[in-house]
Amino acid sequence: MTRDGSDNPAGRAAFLRAEIERHNHAYYVLDAPTIPDAEYDRLFRELQDIEAAHPELSTPDSPTRRVGGAPLPEFRQVAHAVPMLSLNNAFSAEEAAAFDRRCREGLGVEQIDYACEPKFDGLAIGLRYEKGVFVQGATRGDGFTGEDVTQNLRTVRNIPLRLTGSGYPDLLEVRGEVLMLRRDFERLNERQRAAGEKEFANPRNAAAGSLRQLDPKIAAQRPLRFFAYGVADVSTVAPAPSLHSSMMERLAAWGIPVAAERAVVQGAAGLMAYYERIGAARRTLSYDIDGVVYKVNRLADQERLGYVSRAPRFAIAHKFPAEEALTTVEAIEVQVGRTGAITPVARLAPVFVGGVTVTNATLHNEDEVRRKDVRIGDTVIVRRAGDVIPEVVSVVPEKRPILAPEFVMPKKCPVCGSAVEKPEDEAIARCSGGLFCPAQRKQALLHFASRRAMDIEGLGEKLVEQLVDNAVIKTPADLYKLGVLALANLERMAEKSAANLLAAIDKSRHTTLARFIYALGIRNVGEATAKDLARHFGSLDALMAADADQLQLVPDVGPVVAASIARFFAEPHNREVVEQLRAAGVQWEEGAPSAAAHAPLAGKTFVLTGTLPTLTREAAKELIEARGGKVAGSVSKKTHYVVAGAEAGSKLEKAQELGVNILDESQLKELLES
Ligand code: IVH
Repeated sequence: MTRDGSDNPAGRAAFLRAEIERHNHAYYVLDAPTIPDAEYDRLFRELQDIEAAHPELSTPDSPTRRVGGAPLPEFRQVAHAVPMLSLNNAFSAEEAAAFDRRCREGLGVEQIDYACEPKFDGLAIGLRYEKGVFVQGATRGDGFTGEDVTQNLRTVRNIPLRLTGSGYPDLLEVRGEVLMLRRDFERLNERQRAAGEKEFANPRNAAAGSLRQLDPKIAAQRPLRFFAYGVADVSTVAPAPSLHSSMMERLAAWGIPVAAERAVVQGAAGLMAYYERIGAARRTLSYDIDGVVYKVNRLADQERLGYVSRAPRFAIAHKFPAEEALTTVEAIEVQVGRTGAITPVARLAPVFVGGVTVTNATLHNEDEVRRKDVRIGDTVIVRRAGDVIPEVVSVVPEKRPILAPEFVMPKKCPVCGSAVEKPEDEAIARCSGGLFCPAQRKQALLHFASRRAMDIEGLGEKLVEQLVDNAVIKTPADLYKLGVLALANLERMAEKSAANLLAAIDKSRHTTLARFIYALGIRNVGEATAKDLARHFGSLDALMAADADQLQLVPDVGPVVAASIARFFAEPHNREVVEQLRAAGVQWEEGAPSAAAHAPLAGKTFVLTGTLPTLTREAAKELIEARGGKVAGSVSKKTHYVVAGAEAGSKLEKAQELGVNILDESQLKELLES
């Protein structure tokens, strides 16, 4: 028989199964794809064809089972051989230290080694393997009896249908969690939205809904993942591991996915350091976690400590502050932004979430309010993750008061009374008042003065508010006419800060063309586009003279952006402000219009991730841009290079997944010099 089984169908099917599962493991567990997708698809189809022609060759561990069989009428109940218990929680460092003290006292020792793991925010699952073949998977249920979701679990791509390596026991039940990676969740919701179907509130709900699908073909299309955190019900493993951490290593060697963020630490100080480290990295993990779990590492010690009621004494979950909380909507108001965009905002009963007290949450736009059907008086789930603006995730419909009026977008701008306009094909309603509207004027000034624009330090929100409300300033050009007297009349303006502000305004007169263009606040012209425009045209006059067609010659400027630039400079009021600014002495060095050929990296997109050994992120960005390259924030198929430094996270993973070129700092420097 040949190695690849090409001389007989049974041998070929066995070869293909092993090959396909090896590639699956490389892709879904190791995050290191071994073959192109098309080649994988070819192997998969070949196996499907063999199994169709020879049904007797089909096996329960065949990867073809991953696409899902016939729908079930309902899930079968299964009794757990070993009950699925829960963990006690610690919510503070003191409670974690108390856990350590109890363990030390219970074992009569000075210091304990702990195995630490992320606490996956998914659904608990037990997977049974008999002679290395996956035979049954069940949900936690009430801890004693769960539901048989084997069919759906077969479709979870990183669950091995057959264990790899050697030395696994005849019977093995692996315990862990099924979850959805954040990026897969975003994509799933995009698909749901496009199909006009219900979106999921968070990855956990999406995972739960997918796992409990009676139609495994639907489950197969949901990108679920599994991570193991332990074992239950094992026949003899030889040699028997004596530590939890070595058991986890063993699982990994058999092809079972385990979290990379595991660690063994010493004592309470070790626990706290782990908590801090994972807490800081929380946002960069590819999945949601709601805390970390500490387990006494020595299995014999675990046994000695045992259980109290339904939770082990040897383990505890140390929870992070919740990112979601329930509160009520007291009002829905609208805010007017720099470009007139009118954003509905929910005023909330104060609630502690994500480590801070939140009283406002964005509702994004009118369509969002409709879709989520948020009304005054509603009880809602608010989410605040990291530094992200808090948002209303969803309404709890059962808690709606009887009289809860629907939100209606005001027809007039609440600030200036101008008409609110909303083009058919846009989601955003806007105040039509332009710079007549004080709200837009304030935002325009704040933008003009912001760090990446004219960088006027000290011109903050409170000050702008007063300057506009007292009609001291109407346009950015008025800033350069300010004197000490006008400032001294403002509330809370000390002489010293007035002088500092005037100095900062003066300093901003010397700027760059790119900053100036960005500072004008032209709709759809962000920092990157402003730089492209400056580089392309070289001078402001050339830019102002360009028509929409000429504007579209700039890389990445499409019809929409070109139209909004042309519209901006066609407006006499805007041209006048520009002239006043120049007259006030605002200046920059002008260059020759660049031919794309002068820029060796023109058309190339870079993504920076992690900490580089010598360059700051800003410096690397400037070097790349000076050679015509672009720096983007997220990795996609269109990314040409990812520059990765220490502690690179999900962006690096994504680059590996997509096969994007990965450079370290020295390779980047070489490229810049070539
Ligand atoms: S160990 C005896 N480790 O949290 C129970 N559980 O609140 C041993 N969970 O039902 C559980 N990540 O599903 C353990 N690294 C982890 C975990 C973890 C998430 C879940 C688990 C359990 C629940 C307990």
